[in-house]
Amino acid sequence: MKKWYAVLGDPVSHSKSPAMHEEWFRENGIDAGYVPVHVPAGEIGEAVAALKTLGASGWNVTVPHKQDIIRHLDRLDPLAREMQAVNTVRVLPDGKLLGLNTDGPGFVRSLEQGAGPDRKEEPVLIIGAGGAASGIALALVQAGYRSVSVCNRTVEKAERISSRTGGEALSLAEAEKRLGEYGTVIQTTPVGMSTGTPGLPIGLEHLSPDAVAADIVYSPLHTEFLTAAASKGCRIVDGLGMFVFQGALAFREWTGVMPDTEKMRDRLLTEMG
Ligand code: ATR
Repeated sequence: MKKWYAVLGDPVSHSKSPAMHEEWFRENGIDAGYVPVHVPAGEIGEAVAALKTLGASGWNVTVPHKQDIIRHLDRLDPLAREMQAVNTVRVLPDGKLLGLNTDGPGFVRSLEQGAGPDRKEEPVLIIGAGGAASGIALALVQAGYRSVSVCNRTVEKAERISSRTGGEALSLAEAEKRLGEYGTVIQTTPVGMSTGTPGLPIGLEHLSPDAVAADIVYSPLHTEFLTAAASKGCRIVDGLGMFVFQGALAFREWTGVMPDTEKMRDRLLTEMG
């Protein structure tokens, strides 16, 4: 039987994942399909049961199910367990469901491709302390980054992450003042997103021109944060890479093949105009 995969979420109709994975299946000569499945909040249990019955080989999970799906799975990989969030499920040969999280590792791959892998000794600052920030912080530590600090509007939330990464928790005002200390600054809030609040989450006056500035937002591709950092001379890493690499790592988990991320990025850029 032809293998098939899916993305479960709400909303899901706008997702670029089906076209991305179908292209990679084609490129790699794998006879498989990938479909979007609209699953409203609270209905993930029924959806998982249906996918198992219908013989899916794996699926991605997006908003609002990344936490709720966990109690419907049999196993979690260490990062998904630590984060208590799953974005990828693989059906194991014995039918058991393994949950993984490729969001944080996908970000790290994208960062290292854009900024080079030689920045692990320099301190990192993450702006924002939501689910995305927490996954990125843990993945950076796992990848060997020495010091990962977090600043947030609500400092207690930053503390919850920094207590697990060995870095500091800062207010936005403190971070603004001390910005020059960081070799990599990562923007994870919805500020600057085309559907979110416009502007910058913190002032960039003290940002070092030697720093790398990365955003996880990719609509627009160049947020105000990245544009301001680039005008200071910083290397910038946009959020599209994280999306492509989280997908590529899921694809590798399912098929054993690491797909072509460069070509995919170009294709998505063309589609986005
Ligand atoms: P995600 O799971 O995608 O990371 P989230 O959990 O909603 O999203 O987290 C959003 C983050 O952006 C939070 O850190 C939030 O700050 P609070 O914890 O204080 O709410 C931050 N954020 C949202 N809007 C912001 C704004 N206008 N200025 C600064 N930070 C903002």
